[in-house]
Amino acid sequence: MRYALISDLHANLPALQAVHRDILRREVGGVYHLGDLVGYAPWADETVGMVAELGIAGVAGNYDSTVATDYQHCGCRYEDPRQEELSHLSYDWTRRHVSPGTKAFLGGLPFRIDLLPQGGHLAGPRVVLVHGSPTLNTLYWTEDRPDDFCLKMAAHAGAKPGDVIAFGHTHKPWQREVGGIHFVNTGSVGRPKDGDWRAGYVLLDLGGGATRVEFVRVEYDVEQAMRGIRESGLPGEFAEQLRTGGEA
Ligand SMILES: [Fe+2]
Repeated sequence: MRYALISDLHANLPALQAVHRDILRREVGGVYHLGDLVGYAPWADETVGMVAELGIAGVAGNYDSTVATDYQHCGCRYEDPRQEELSHLSYDWTRRHVSPGTKAFLGGLPFRIDLLPQGGHLAGPRVVLVHGSPTLNTLYWTEDRPDDFCLKMAAHAGAKPGDVIAFGHTHKPWQREVGGIHFVNTGSVGRPKDGDWRAGYVLLDLGGGATRVEFVRVEYDVEQAMRGIRESGLPGEFAEQLRTGGEA
């Protein structure tokens, strides 16, 4: 069984369209999203509309659950006062522009989805899909987290050797195997922060007792996305961050 896992789309419709085209060229059994469909770019309704129309199931990112519940902020991390200001500008803009239908759709997303690629009549292997971590969708599971942290999360999720836990939220892709459990951060479709501007997603293969993770990068019309941000009234910094892959 082969899955395409897409995360952190962040209302970047041109990036999602390019990733979707790329997925169609491959043999994929299922496409799932790991949340954060909206925020930072202007195509919130269009992105949610495309995900809904294609029937791509997925989980609630922090952006999705905070917008849906009118929380006071998006649950995003910021490292300085300007970042904090930008974070609030994006959140306020998004809340003012999502349609009631989009908000309802975001509110209906589950916290976690479990896949059993060999069928539910067998115990495993299990693929657990969450946005940030099995405990909270706001928790940043970065590559420098120690093995102990990964095992603690696996225990919380009820994962066993051979299982996979897939998540996003940090916008930086990585993978690691600890105690026979595979941990996969899928990176971001619409707002990568690893210095590579191209849209990122993961192909996860579970077959013949082996687990294979392929990090795919797809070129898209980033100029169109940047223009869309600038014309929307969102801060211009968000356009620059797309061009540099988060290094701006
Ligand atoms: Fe995100």
